Amino acid sequence: MRDTLSFFHEFVRNPTATGAIAPSSRQLALAMVEALRPMQSGHVLVELGAGTGSFTRILRHTLPENPVVACEFNQVFARLLRRRHPDVEVIEGCASEIAVQLGRLSVERDRIAGIISGLPLLSLPEHKVRDILLAIAEVLPVNRSFVQFTYLPWLWRDLETPGLELEYRRWVWRNLPPATLLVFRKSADRDPILACPSRPDDALAEGSRQQCY
Ligand SMILES: C[S@@+](CC[C@H](N)C(=O)[O-])C[C@H]1O[C@@H](n2cnc3c(N)ncnc32)[C@H](O)[C@@H]1O
Repeated sequence: MRDTLSFFHEFVRNPTATGAIAPSSRQLALAMVEALRPMQSGHVLVELGAGTGSFTRILRHTLPENPVVACEFNQVFARLLRRRHPDVEVIEGCASEIAVQLGRLSVERDRIAGIISGLPLLSLPEHKVRDILLAIAEVLPVNRSFVQFTYLPWLWRDLETPGLELEYRRWVWRNLPPATLLVFRKSADRDPILACPSRPDDALAEGSRQQCY
């Protein structure tokens, strides 16, 4: 209940970036995490837009042998995640910087097991969505999965996802509102890095969060 109130409060403060009025259900979280399998023990799970930790909790419980790096732009949520999950590496910043942030944490790309995302990509500015999707395709090893949920699956048809191929979708009814899970796989034939402008590490610094939107 406390998470729902906190979520609603953040939604009122910043509806487009928060993207939902309440945290995702346990059923959606379980389905999202299941879609990441199979994976090798010890490989790193990357979570984008972790919020109050609906997916983080399930990741830690069901895949205890895989370290989690969670990226969250909202300061209130990032603090909450750190307090609740001291064993999770929480990055307070924008998901579009994930490649640089993982580099700073010395996470090698071939050790990334998959990426799970609660980011409200359909409500963010177009240029930001493009940067985030390119960053995801940049860090994800070939043939590994990027799992996203959406309330409006038909709008995803118009979204370009360079380097990522939609493998399947699945409805999860037990969520408010019901959601669709989208499972993408990093394809081998296109290299999104070529299209992605590189950014020097020092451009990140402390200002990353404020510059996000
Ligand atoms: C719809 S909520 C999902 C939260 C949680 N994963 C869940 O399913 O309950 C979206 C989350 O993405 C975060 N967010 C939005 N834009 C972001 C960005 N550019 N980088 C990182 N996090 C972002 C919001 O602050 C919010 O916590």
